[in-house]
Amino acid sequence: MNKIPRVCVWHTQGDTYRDALRERLPDTPIEVINAATHETGEAVLGALDSGPVANHATSVIADAISSAEILLAWKVPPRTLTSMPALRWVQVTGAGVDHFLESTELSAAVIVTRSLGRFGIQISEYVIGYLLHHLIGIHTYREKQRSHEWDRNNRPLLADRTVGIIGLGSLGLPTANALTALGARVLGVSHSGLAVPGIDDVFSARNWRNMLPACDVLVIAAPKTVETVGMIDQRALDALPKGTILINISRGELIDEDALLEALENGHLGAAVLDVFTAEPLPEDHPLWDQSRAWITPHIAAPSEIEVIADEFAKNYRRYVAGDPLLNEVDRRRGY
Ligand code: GLV
Repeated sequence: MNKIPRVCVWHTQGDTYRDALRERLPDTPIEVINAATHETGEAVLGALDSGPVANHATSVIADAISSAEILLAWKVPPRTLTSMPALRWVQVTGAGVDHFLESTELSAAVIVTRSLGRFGIQISEYVIGYLLHHLIGIHTYREKQRSHEWDRNNRPLLADRTVGIIGLGSLGLPTANALTALGARVLGVSHSGLAVPGIDDVFSARNWRNMLPACDVLVIAAPKTVETVGMIDQRALDALPKGTILINISRGELIDEDALLEALENGHLGAAVLDVFTAEPLPEDHPLWDQSRAWITPHIAAPSEIEVIADEFAKNYRRYVAGDPLLNEVDRRRGY
């Protein structure tokens, strides 16, 4: 019988992942590195460099890294991948794999798979939650309640709005479907621009700017690739109607943050709901914090749920062992 492929889990919640995986894959050798931060990771790697291994814990870690054929991780610090000569497959615990694909340390032969989790549902709820909050004006009534004010605002409907979604993949498409179910008109952008049932009009990577003037709401749900970085530039923001609500649940780098700040300051954008930023955590002195039209969340729109990710990983692990194609494999050239 073939030897059982060894798994290294490198994660801040490594112990919880280990428990979840042991239930599902009881015979699989799994080593866990609870890397709380990049610094911890550096310390681990530093220990590997330090010649004869000093203690049992370090030797277990050294063995886990150097013998693992499979890595389950969100992010790893520099030099981890080059310390893994046996590595054949990385399963990323999140939806976006940009940080692995950008690494010059990842050998071209390594397969990268991403997780689907319940990210599509989570993103749909986040987008719809924020949109309804804005349209109903929940925060304004809460304010008025404090001063016992019986005062009515307009009551605009999501069903009368047009929402443009950039990226019609595992995040954008469920969001589009949920918005359609609530009666909104949905437009979308995909690489090919091919028609998608339920979406009023789909634009391609070539003509996507033509969608912008029709959007009351713009949702950014495309992966970070060489083609998408910086795509929401000043020209794109200018093409949106005054008062548009922009929602970014992808990666901060898709938006030119200076142009965004200006569009918020001068009132061209009605609001920006931002879960992701070029620098995370968003630096304490970043001007977006104090911009009243910005609604900031700390990258929580679609957190990875360990039990769900463990199910996905276990299923893929069994396929790997059986020699079957893996699910949710990333096209490394395309970038998603
Ligand atoms: C989170 O940002 C993810 O890519 O899953």
